Amino acid sequence: MKMVVDPSSLLTQLTELIQTSIPSTHYLCLLAAAITTLILLATFFFTYRPIKHVYLIDYSCYRPPDSLRAPLSTYIEHISICGAFDGPSIEFQKKLVERSGIGNDTCFPHGLHQLPDDNSSKSALIEVETIMCTTLKDLLTKHQIDPTTIDILITNCGVVCSTPSIAAMVINRFGLKSDVRSFHLAGMGCSASLRAIALARDLLRVNKNSLAVVLSMEAVTSNCYHGKEKSMLVSNCLFRMGGVATLLSNRKQDKSIARYMLQHLVCTHTGSKDTSYSCIVQEVDNEGIVGVRISKDIVQVAGDAVRTNIRSLGPLVLPYMQLMRYRWSVIRSKFWGTIYVPAFRMAFDHFCIHAGGKAVIDAVGHVLGLVDEDLEASKMTLYRFGNTSVSTVWYSLCYMEAKGRVKKGDSVWQISLGSGFKCNSAVWKCMSDLGPRVDNAWSDRIHLYPVEVPKVVDH
Ligand SMILES: *[C@@H]1O[C@H](CO)[C@@H](O)[C@H](O)[C@H]1NC(C)=O
Ligand SMILES: *[C@@H]1O[C@H](CO)[C@@H](O)[C@H](O)[C@H]1NC(C)=O
Ligand SMILES: *[C@@H]1O[C@H](CO)[C@@H](O)[C@H](O)[C@H]1NC(C)=O
Repeated sequence: MKMVVDPSSLLTQLTELIQTSIPSTHYLCLLAAAITTLILLATFFFTYRPIKHVYLIDYSCYRPPDSLRAPLSTYIEHISICGAFDGPSIEFQKKLVERSGIGNDTCFPHGLHQLPDDNSSKSALIEVETIMCTTLKDLLTKHQIDPTTIDILITNCGVVCSTPSIAAMVINRFGLKSDVRSFHLAGMGCSASLRAIALARDLLRVNKNSLAVVLSMEAVTSNCYHGKEKSMLVSNCLFRMGGVATLLSNRKQDKSIARYMLQHLVCTHTGSKDTSYSCIVQEVDNEGIVGVRISKDIVQVAGDAVRTNIRSLGPLVLPYMQLMRYRWSVIRSKFWGTIYVPAFRMAFDHFCIHAGGKAVIDAVGHVLGLVDEDLEASKMTLYRFGNTSVSTVWYSLCYMEAKGRVKKGDSVWQISLGSGFKCNSAVWKCMSDLGPRVDNAWSDRIHLYPVEVPKVVDH
């Protein structure tokens, strides 16, 4: 025979039992303990996510051949005699490039070494193909990976958008399999590399046992502006050749060979505000010449985007006390305006800041409360390779590996900014003791760095 128990009467009996057997203060303590446990459980329940690992097996940054070097003197001579610029435009670029933090080893693609510049779309496609194919081939050979085992391919290049797509070009050159998932991201600006990695991560989350390749670069050839407007001449001076190939995986067997594991990736887009949206745009000037215009609002817009991004990233990475202080300051700032900047230095071991220009690195470093030593990799990247757009954060990581600074267990923060306006952050955890890298984009001359960037004084 079954016993029938009425749950509500059981509860009343139980409550009575507790009330009679325990003194009321104890009863309160018990209640408090129960509530705390409930809150803890609820917090755990709402913040818990099943972890799906994404490994970065390896990456390869493009090192242009020395034959493409464009020392500052060559650059200045080139713009003076190529016939595309008038006197004031030449003078403006000369001044800017001398103060830019860029050194004598940056490179231009073949087309821009010609007189006059060969900015044709054919020349741009040659640049894209050279960079993407060289870096991918490098990765595949190093890890003895058969191209037909690649499941996901994402290419990204801001201004070059060909038909068939650049992704199709890679599929053709490497003979990828017919059911590869391929995407090309265009017009996504300087922070597109991390955006592409985010797409790869999302695809890896839903496709088990897969290998993904992400190829990121920007083509200098078709970004060169031949007009007179200063706001459009700026990117001529800073922008140089470069690109990166990354190999990501969620396969179990790759855990033992992977260099990094993706911990967090936070993408912020502030494009719903007009000033942010129109901060960096490719358009035609008054004379009908195409160029990329950078607005004066950029410092403000970039600062806002970084703050929005770290507001989401902070809770994921900051130590508890830092987080409480930060939250409190956000509330207080409604009345007094100043926000406490949490000590991000304590949460990460290495920093890779988008090396768009000296001002960008300094401004981001300031917002995050970083010191000079944290900015070294980014500044040296700007010095040696220039603003390589999407790939700067990878050149910085490469620099620290060549120096042998990245150790097992270290965490690396990459933060990139770009048109849209976007700010994307990726946090990686190093999974193997790397030792100094002897075969990366920096390893040939790493012993010469860091260098003191010469200061230019006005006469
Ligand atoms: C580039 O080289 C020239 C000539 O050797 C030198 O005067 C200049 O300081 C160098 N510039 C930078 C930024 O290193
Ligand atoms: C290449 O440069 C010329 C000369 O300034 C310009 O008229 C032309 O529009 C440019 N072509 C491309 C594809 O940007
Ligand atoms: C860096 O280069 C990209 C690509 O041309 C350009 O859009 C961006 O404005 C440049 N950054 C700066 C600070 O000039």
